[in-house]
Amino acid sequence: MRRSSLTVITSDIGPAAAALAQGKLVAFPTETVYGLGANALDDRAVARVYEAKGRPRINPLIVHVAERADAFRLGVFNGAARALVEAFWPGPLTLVVPRSDDCPVSLLASAGLASLAIRMPNHDLARKLIATAGVPVVAPSANLSGHVSPTTVAHVLEGLAGRIDMVLDGGACQFGIESTIVSCLEGRPELLRPGALARGRIEEVLGEPLKSRAEAGRPVAPGALASHYAPAAALRLGASRADKGEALLAFGPQVPEHSGPTLNLSPAGDVTEAAANLFAMLRELDASGMKTIAVMPIPDESLGEAINDRLQRAAAPRAPARMR
Ligand code: TXA
Ligand code: MG
Repeated sequence: MRRSSLTVITSDIGPAAAALAQGKLVAFPTETVYGLGANALDDRAVARVYEAKGRPRINPLIVHVAERADAFRLGVFNGAARALVEAFWPGPLTLVVPRSDDCPVSLLASAGLASLAIRMPNHDLARKLIATAGVPVVAPSANLSGHVSPTTVAHVLEGLAGRIDMVLDGGACQFGIESTIVSCLEGRPELLRPGALARGRIEEVLGEPLKSRAEAGRPVAPGALASHYAPAAALRLGASRADKGEALLAFGPQVPEHSGPTLNLSPAGDVTEAAANLFAMLRELDASGMKTIAVMPIPDESLGEAINDRLQRAAAPRAPARMR
C-alpha cells in the first residue's frame, strides 16, 4: 500500500468521475454513509478497494448505479424485487439478486457468489458521479474494515487518508446509517441487514413479513461478522446509568446524571435522529479515551432495529485483528 500518496479533496464531479473511470479509488457521499467507490468493471480497481480497507476478500461489495435500467442489466429482478425498486429506488435499500448471464461486474465484487448486491442511491452528487463516470461503482462504506462507518469527509480521511486517491465532498450524510439489505434470490425475500429503510415499510409493499436471520437458519450477509463497526472502547448496552470511568451515550429526554463525557443520540427520543448521530457520536466518545461507553436502551421500532444491530456488533467480542 502506498501510504505516502496524497488524497485529493474535491467538490467537483468532473475530476472525481474521471478518476473513477481510470480505476482510481474515490470516496463519495450517499444519503446513508460515505462510500469508497471504484469502477465495478475493473478487477484491479475492485481489488484495490479490499486492499485499502484491509477487508477480508470473502466479503462482497454493493454495486451502485445511477438509473434503474442499469440495475436491470446487471441482475435478474423477480416480481418482489421489482416491486421494491418501484417503491423505494432511488433510496437506502440494497437488493441482492442473481447476476445476469452477461453481467460485466467484476467477479471479485461478488466474492465468488452467483448473486450481486445493487443499490441506486438517493443522492444527487452520488448519482451524477456514477452517471458521469459511465460505469457501475462498487462502494463499501469508506472506513477501514471493522471500523465505524463515515458520515463526513473528516471521518473518511481519519481512516483512509493516503490510502485512496480522492474524496468528493458532499457534507454530512442524511441518514448516517447504512442501507437496508434484502435478498430476492428465491422464495420469500429475506432481511440480510436492517438499515436506513425500516423493515415495516418494506413488508407493507410486499404484503408479507420478510424472512429473517433466525428463520433462514444460516449466517446472513457474509460481511455480517459478529464484531463489526467496532470503536476502541468497549460498549455496555442497555445501561440505565454510567459509572465513573465510563462515557455515556444517552437517548431520550431522561438522562441520568453523569460527570464523564456524555452525548445524547436524540434528546427528543427520535430513532431517525439517533441513527443519523450514531456513528459520529460513537467516534467522539471513543476519542474521549474512556475504556467503556455505556449506551442507554434504544427502542427496537423503525430505524431502532438498525441502530441496535450496529450497537450489538460494536459490543461483540473482538475478532482477531486479521479477521477484521
Ligand atoms: O449504505 C450502504 O449500503 C453503504 C453505502 C456506501 O452505499 N455501503 C455499505 O457497504 O454499507 P458495505 O460493503 O460496508 O456493506 C455491504 C454489505 C456487506 O455486509 C456484504 O456482505 C453484503 O453487503 N453483500 C454484498 N454483496 C452481497 C451478496 N451478493 N449477498 C449477500 N450479501 C452481500
Ligand atoms: Mg461497512
